[in-house]
Amino acid sequence: MSDPVIEVRDLKLRFPSLDGTEVVHAVDGVSFRIEAGETFGIIGESGSGKSTIGRVLVGLLNPSDGDIVFAGRSRSSISGREWRKARRGFQMIFQDSNAALNPRMTILDSLIEPMRIAGGRSREEMRETALAALVRVGLRPDMAQRYPHELSGGQKQRVNIARILPLEPRLVVCDEVVAALDVSIRGEILNLFRDLQRDLGLAYAFIAHDISVVAQISDRVAVTYLGRFVELGATGDVIERALHPYTVALLSAEPQPLPRALRDDRRLVLQGDIPSPVNPPSGCRFHTRCPWATEICGRVDPEWRELRSGHRVACHHATPEGLPSPGRAGTREMTATWEETS
Ligand SMILES: Nc1ncnc2c1ncn2[C@@H]1O[C@H](COP(=O)(O)OP(=O)(O)O)[C@@H](O)[C@H]1O
Ligand SMILES: [Mg+2]
Repeated sequence: MSDPVIEVRDLKLRFPSLDGTEVVHAVDGVSFRIEAGETFGIIGESGSGKSTIGRVLVGLLNPSDGDIVFAGRSRSSISGREWRKARRGFQMIFQDSNAALNPRMTILDSLIEPMRIAGGRSREEMRETALAALVRVGLRPDMAQRYPHELSGGQKQRVNIARILPLEPRLVVCDEVVAALDVSIRGEILNLFRDLQRDLGLAYAFIAHDISVVAQISDRVAVTYLGRFVELGATGDVIERALHPYTVALLSAEPQPLPRALRDDRRLVLQGDIPSPVNPPSGCRFHTRCPWATEICGRVDPEWRELRSGHRVACHHATPEGLPSPGRAGTREMTATWEETS
């Protein structure tokens, strides 16, 4: 097997809280690899640590613990200079299409900027490369003379994609890149990502809180909860045969349930908000909201188990066949309810 584009080993990232008195465990022990040309989806509620993982992947944040390995070399073993060079192969696109565009710069200058910083190209080469990138993402070359405010959200997101293409990235972290776009445009932008992947062999880490978006584009999906992965597998397996109660809840919150198996007459509705990552719950972090939770769940951290080929889960109650019927498993007070939907 070829080397993965990037491998993350037991990544932890802690922030000081806003008032500086507490520690936020934003990412707390996550391991995974992203293969060349693959789309690795990361889903979970707001606050589960997705963006933090993304920022670590592109080197915007340094891990508090754990390591990152790329091209067979560990982040901790190379110099800062080598790392800055290698980092160019890892780029990120954000939800806010304005984030990377200077309102006072023409689109052309915004496209040229990353090439200028990288160095090695003449002004004319940069201009030609920028225009080619613009066309590659489906925009007309005359757009280059415009300013960001003259473009729609979808067009700006295309420009943001065009900006990174000349850097020839191997991995692009896409953080909620279609969340702010009209639903009618989302499909077009997802198709563009797909086309570029096919033509350029890009790998993506595709982050979203919306499971249906991630499911459309990802080869594999990781489900995050409070800084940990609770489930990871091929998209079809996770969607059709979810092993973790949290995944079941995310799927069942979809207006049109994705998996056939869940086209049930009941919907799992989670009560309450995601707990604070300052003091995550003991044992399984999801136990405070889980209808399957039993005594062991509050006490023992569940192991990360491969229950089916390539399909892993951290849950005491999951079996290769899925989860037992929820009513019977739970002995604790129910913290989630099943609502009749038909
Ligand atoms: N710079 C920061 N300083 C302090 N806490 C942060 C910082 N960035 C993120 N956090 C906290 O870390 C947790 C994970 O955040 P984030 O990775 O943005 O989650 P997500 O992208 O899944 O919404 C949240 O509790 C968030 O408030
Ligand atoms: Mg985020």
